[in-house]
Amino acid sequence: MKLTALSALVLSGIALTGCSRLDMQDQPKYRPQRPSAFFADGRSERQPVEGAIARGALNEDTAFYEGKDADGNDVEEFPIAVDKAVIERGRTRFDVYCAPCHGAIGNGLGMVVRRGFKQPPSYHIDRLREAPVGHMYDVITNGYGAMLNYSAQVQPRDRWAIVAYIRALQYSENANINDLPVEARNKLPAAGQGPAPGQSAAEKNQPIAPPDSDVIDFPHQPATPSGVPGASGAGARPGKQPERK
Ligand code: HEC
Repeated sequence: MKLTALSALVLSGIALTGCSRLDMQDQPKYRPQRPSAFFADGRSERQPVEGAIARGALNEDTAFYEGKDADGNDVEEFPIAVDKAVIERGRTRFDVYCAPCHGAIGNGLGMVVRRGFKQPPSYHIDRLREAPVGHMYDVITNGYGAMLNYSAQVQPRDRWAIVAYIRALQYSENANINDLPVEARNKLPAAGQGPAPGQSAAEKNQPIAPPDSDVIDFPHQPATPSGVPGASGAGARPGKQPERK
């Protein structure tokens, strides 16, 4: 009796494996990007329901993600806590992404500009010193005039770090000696006493800040001398530099 039951089981097992495949291979399904006759728009791949938000992408904090308050105005205050580490981080990002055009001190005379790109205004003009931090953030996020946006390269937190560093640059270019703590003030050379330690005489004699003006007549001459490939006079016409749209 027992034996018969067992052999029946074995036999049915053999019979089943002989059948055609009944696995997921044969289910009715769409392959990626294939059309569908079932949906009205002919696509097998469905669009997310309107208003759907991917997990982790609910960017509700408009001040942080857009630099705008609830009414859509540029925020005046940083939505993150700004400390020295944030400013240092901003400096590294600024030097990578902004200094090539805006110059290391933000005067708008970066190397790309010297090679003929439209000259941006100096950060040290009154309008930009008074501009809300949200405006700076918006320029990085959405671009401004001839400047493309940097939203793909620079993530929101780093954008704020850059804005913090721009504020530090603006402050440094307009600082008064009385803004320094006394011990730092004591380290400065007295007037006419020569360069500060670590600063060469040549550096000291260089004007570090351009005149506080939106327009600097630069370059009058083609910035790229002959012999440099592709230097066929970009920026050669005074006051009429090529503009990139
Ligand atoms: C390829 C060159 C280039 C780079 C790189 C660049 N900018 Fe600009 N930026 C410009 C130009 C040109 C303008 C002026 C645009 C105009 O007025 O059409 C400008 C304008 C600005 C302004 C002034 C906007 C105003 O209200 O006048 C700010 C602020 C600014 N850029 C910030 C940044 C920051 C921050 C970065 C780095 C993340 C950056 N830019 C990178 C070229 C550049």
